[in-house]
Amino acid sequence: MVSLSLLSLSATFSRSRLHFIPRLSLPSSLSSVRRTTRRNGPPARLSSSWPPPSCPPLDSHSFGSSTSRNSSSSVPCGGAAVADGDDLVVLGIETSCDDTAAAVVRGDGQILSQVVSSQADLLVLYGGVAPKVAEAAHAEAIDQVVEEALSKANLTARDLSAVAVTIGPGLSLCLRVGVRKARNIAGLFCKPIVGVHHMEAHALVARIVQQDLQFPFLALLISGGHNLLILARSLGQYVQLGTTIDDAIGEAYDKTAKWLGLDLRTSGGPAIEKLALEGDAESVKFSTPMKQHKDCNFSYAGLKTQVRLAIESRNINAQIPISSATTQDRSDRADIAASFQRVAVLHLEERCERAIVWAMEMEPSLKYLVVSGGVASNKYVRSRLDQVVKRKSLELVCPPPSLCTDNGVMIAWTGIEHFRMGRFDPPPPADEPEDAMYDLRPRWPLGEEHVKGRSEARSLRTARLHPSLTSIIQESLQKQS
Ligand code: KG4
Ligand code: ZN
Repeated sequence: MVSLSLLSLSATFSRSRLHFIPRLSLPSSLSSVRRTTRRNGPPARLSSSWPPPSCPPLDSHSFGSSTSRNSSSSVPCGGAAVADGDDLVVLGIETSCDDTAAAVVRGDGQILSQVVSSQADLLVLYGGVAPKVAEAAHAEAIDQVVEEALSKANLTARDLSAVAVTIGPGLSLCLRVGVRKARNIAGLFCKPIVGVHHMEAHALVARIVQQDLQFPFLALLISGGHNLLILARSLGQYVQLGTTIDDAIGEAYDKTAKWLGLDLRTSGGPAIEKLALEGDAESVKFSTPMKQHKDCNFSYAGLKTQVRLAIESRNINAQIPISSATTQDRSDRADIAASFQRVAVLHLEERCERAIVWAMEMEPSLKYLVVSGGVASNKYVRSRLDQVVKRKSLELVCPPPSLCTDNGVMIAWTGIEHFRMGRFDPPPPADEPEDAMYDLRPRWPLGEEHVKGRSEARSLRTARLHPSLTSIIQESLQKQS
């Protein structure tokens, strides 16, 4: 996770930077970035305030390999250049699930490059993410993805201020590939390293897009593995208002697409979104999940079962691809897709309405609902949630699709936000062994649960759960005061 080293360097970043808002003009066509790169503006002007000439041992806390503490790099740390404020340049690496992504972002929010290598073909072949297969695919892609991100940014690793990498939550095998690469670069070029929480990054990337998005704000994070409603009170301080008691909405989209025989090469969500446009959303009467639970938690397992039964009762054969279906068959599938989507999103709407009320009780100055994560790319989701926030006199902030689905920009940006606060680890040793043990956090809550958020319907699996990001940061702040 985010390391909590507070060293003298951090004093050079004033506290007001907590609410630093970047001035950014996003490239107009970011939505098309997938396995592509983009350069946006000239490379950063670098100064040389970091690192110090010989990388003295730093007071590292929680991020790193078991071999990294107190070990000194065999490579002297001179000559690299980094910067304060807007001149920071951070490489972000993301490998928590099925996309290998890297990006270079400047402290003022400029995206210098963005590269994503997707495993879509493997998803089709294996019908979902197979951890070993995904790990191998990451291992094969990572060097090229990072190299491309640096070269499109017109930089070398030497020019970086720091390297940021996802350390959880996610699949351990996959996280390991990104962390190994990040530590390798950071070790060789003597760069500090920031461990990033994947879901925090989904939320914070909205601060690149929306210039006046300050804390506190409410965030709905919807992806393949998570459904989270959080109140972001300040950087690293999150209250969890709701989470899923079983499946996330993205998982329900993906399974529905698979059972309807859709083309999964663009992942299930976009395929359902497209087909739903042809269907009648009122035709199949699915019931909305958790109606009787007046909280902000989510459940999609029951809706999945309803969809499966509806598909079986209409004798839809997933082995027949939609492209070969008869007109009637296609129309049945479209009705199911549209009806599923209506209810899946209705569930989000209801939970968001309640979460806004809860959040306003805690933070009456609340202005924004951020919606991010892969499912937030969906136009229907966006327009329905836009209506919810308007009814509550708030504003919706939704990053462009390429920043909603997993990407390196959000990791780099979150790295920048924490780096400014002095939360990072010292450079790892340049000769760190390949089989070093890394601090990975596959099950890692973002915030502490709101009292009202505890669901009776929820069977909490707490085994191997890491302490939340918020509690770690709070503990560290208490130690310093
Ligand atoms: O955030 P993300 O890229 O990866 C995870 O952290 O899980 O989210 C991936 C999920 C997948 O379930 C995918 O089907 C879904 O986001 N998704 C969508 C859309 N685009 C991606 N769901 C609905 N509509 C979309 N347009
Ligand atoms: Zn994600």
